[in-house]
Amino acid sequence: MGNVTFQHVSKRYAGEKRKSVNDFSLKVEEGEFLVLVGPSGCGKSTLLRMLAGLEDITEGEIYIGDKLVNYVSSKDRNISMVFQNYALYPHMSVYENIAFGLRLRKMAKADIHERVTRAAKILEIESHLSKQPKQMSGGQRQRVALGRAIVREPAVFLFDEPLSNLDAKLRVQMREEIGKLYRRLKTTMIYVTHDQIEAMTMGTRIVVMKEGLVQQVATPEMIYTRPANMFVAGFIGSPPMNFMHGKFVSMDGASFFETKRYSLLIPEERAKPLIKAGYEGKVIVMGVRAEDAIYKKEELSLEAFISTQFEAVIEMRELLGSDVYLYLYNKEQRLVIRVDPRARFEEGKTIQVGLDMNRAHFFDKATEELIC
Ligand SMILES: Nc1ncnc2c1ncn2[C@@H]1O[C@H](COP(=O)(O)OP(=O)(O)OP(=O)(O)O)[C@@H](O)[C@H]1O
Ligand SMILES: [Mg+2]
Repeated sequence: MGNVTFQHVSKRYAGEKRKSVNDFSLKVEEGEFLVLVGPSGCGKSTLLRMLAGLEDITEGEIYIGDKLVNYVSSKDRNISMVFQNYALYPHMSVYENIAFGLRLRKMAKADIHERVTRAAKILEIESHLSKQPKQMSGGQRQRVALGRAIVREPAVFLFDEPLSNLDAKLRVQMREEIGKLYRRLKTTMIYVTHDQIEAMTMGTRIVVMKEGLVQQVATPEMIYTRPANMFVAGFIGSPPMNFMHGKFVSMDGASFFETKRYSLLIPEERAKPLIKAGYEGKVIVMGVRAEDAIYKKEELSLEAFISTQFEAVIEMRELLGSDVYLYLYNKEQRLVIRVDPRARFEEGKTIQVGLDMNRAHFFDKATEELIC
């Protein structure tokens, strides 16, 4: 069975004050592609290594299927792990590299041959089987490492930043390959990365971690559209979400987000939960994604535009192929918005910007948790 259960799992390395993983509980369903994402040092590898049996578990239990594996040795856990440095044996052929683990298990030669051939076919490296790793490109080598993991036919695949050694283009390609592999094998995969784009594109579910603590567990869509707190909102999405501080004011049936210089109308439906939670008159944080800014009057009714717009100077214009980002300063704070690449915007010019307040996120200033 390929489901994995973590129950209150913690890790404190010998001599360390802080827990590297702090009370992690999660059930990974069979056939899920779970991505663990978070900044460097947040405990992703530690968690994966505890599941793999490469690291002791300080507290809590880990189950693979129904079996408690805390004291099961790594080789008996029915998992395959692919690392960042794929560590192929340089003096062995690709075939031998892929077959190696099976030989150690004393599998019959014919069975080994069948599995290696099948894996090579899935990964499209059949014509390279007699080569040595040094005769192959980085991407091909990474595929050999995948092959080595596939032939073991594990209940769970573990990946620890397997693509971070590859250049940008190859990374995108391998991302697709792993996605294809997942769809073909339908085996549970747990994938560690600090790259939020990898997390968003590959995972069926994402776990966002920070300093050993889980911040949110949800589908990519939910993580993006309903980030649980400011950390998740800022970490997932590129460029990061814009945050501004302002007072929530509600009077005569209309609600506003007020800063020193601006007063932005909050649509009634969005304001309701803020009123209900008692935020009237309090400073809150508003988060707006770059794509939720409006800069053309036509897109808004005049009334809405007047009440949500402000003036800002274009400090920098950044062209990223199909996207253009404008880095703005509105005399109070800086923000970045995405605009139509065909529209002409010049650095140094002042423009009118509106914010789509229907898509704004509101956070508690002290706890940084999402209010609505
Ligand atoms: N063997 C060890 N002994 C002591 N502390 C460790 C050990 N391995 C990791 N740590 C600490 O545990 C924390 C989590 O490390 P971990 O390697 O799990 O982070 P990570 O999320 O995988 O980071 P990265 O993205 O950089 O790989 C870090 O603070 C790290 O310094
Ligand atoms: Mg790591």
